[in-house]
Parts: sequence; C-alpha cells; structure tokens
Amino acid sequence: MTKITKTEEPSLMKYTLMLAMAGLLSTSLLQNTDAAEPDGREVFTRNCSVCHTINPPPKTAPPIGPVAGRYRQKFSTKAEGVAYMVNFIKAPSKEKSVVDTDAIDRFGLMPPMPGLDEKELTAVAGWIWDQPWGGRGQGGGQGKKGQGNGDCQ
Ligand code: HEC
Repeated sequence: MTKITKTEEPSLMKYTLMLAMAGLLSTSLLQNTDAAEPDGREVFTRNCSVCHTINPPPKTAPPIGPVAGRYRQKFSTKAEGVAYMVNFIKAPSKEKSVVDTDAIDRFGLMPPMPGLDEKELTAVAGWIWDQPWGGRGQGGGQGKKGQGNGDCQ
C-alpha cells in the first residue's frame, strides 16, 4: 500500500503541475485576445483603416503616424493625449482638432464613431499615441520618406 502511494505521488505532482501550467498559458492567451482589454491595433483595423492609413500616402483621412506626432507634440503625457483623442473620436469638431485645419479643409471633418465603447476607444487612442513618427522613430525607411513629413500634418 505505502509503495503504491509513493510511486504515484511524483507522477501525480507532475500531472498537476502540467495542468497548472496549461491553465496559466490559456488564461494569458485569453487576456491577449478578446476577454479583458481590447487590442488597439485590431480596433483600428476594423473601424478606422477604411479612412486612415498608418503612414502616408493617405486614403481619405490624415495618416495616423503624423497625427500621433502631433498629439505627442501637443500633450506632455500619454494619459492626457489619449483622453483628448477619445473625446475627439466620440464627437469630432473643428475646434477640438489637433491636426492642422488644412487637414480638415482637405479631408473634411471626421464622422463620430458611435459603435465603440470607452475601452475600445482608449485602446485605439493608446495604440495611435504609440505609433512612431518624426524622423527618429521612423526606422526602416522607404524611398518616399522625405516627402512625408510636411505632407499631412
Ligand atoms: C469615414 C472616415 C474616417 C473614419 C472611419 C475614421 N476617421 Fe479619423 N479622421 C477622419 C478625417 C477626415 C480626419 C481629419 C479631419 C479631422 O481632424 O476631423 C480624421 C482625423 C482623426 C484624428 C485627428 C484628430 C484631430 O485632432 O484632428 C484622429 C486621432 C482620428 N481621426 C482617429 C480615428 C480613429 C481612432 C478611428 C477609428 C475608431 C477613426 N479616426 C476613423 C476620417 C475618418
């Protein structure tokens, strides 16, 4: 009797450990996809990329890179910039706009995005804020890069 429990114990422990690890793994996977926090990039792709490209050339709205650069120039903290951007996306107006009024003349005012909740808006806004722009951040350049900067701000 004692022999059996002794031999069983280690394998049982291993099994439990494996289960625990599998559990951990799947919870963290879940968190990364839909459950808790919406993914900003995904929200962007689904709701914003019809009009916004990330880098120039633009479609029917200013590309997100220069917009992000603008926000980082104007607001000193990410929290402030993101809060402002969320507010703008809910109810865009010319007065609130941070991009040059040229952009509004060129593209028109952005329509409000009623289908998104606060979490999704905060997620996209945070993701936009993090998009590299402004020379140093640009990295892996393509041929047309030099022309980009003044273009859409
Ligand atoms: C139907 C086209 C369209 C869609 C969809 C759209 N936008 Fe825009 N967006 C615009 C246009 C046009 C502008 C430029 C004029 C302006 O600032 O309102 C703009 C400007 C912006 C700006 C700059 C705001 C400022 O300070 O002037 C941000 C930030 C932005 N969009 C974020 C988003 C996000 C995030 C989404 C998706 C949730 C989105 N947009 C979806 C057309 C669109």
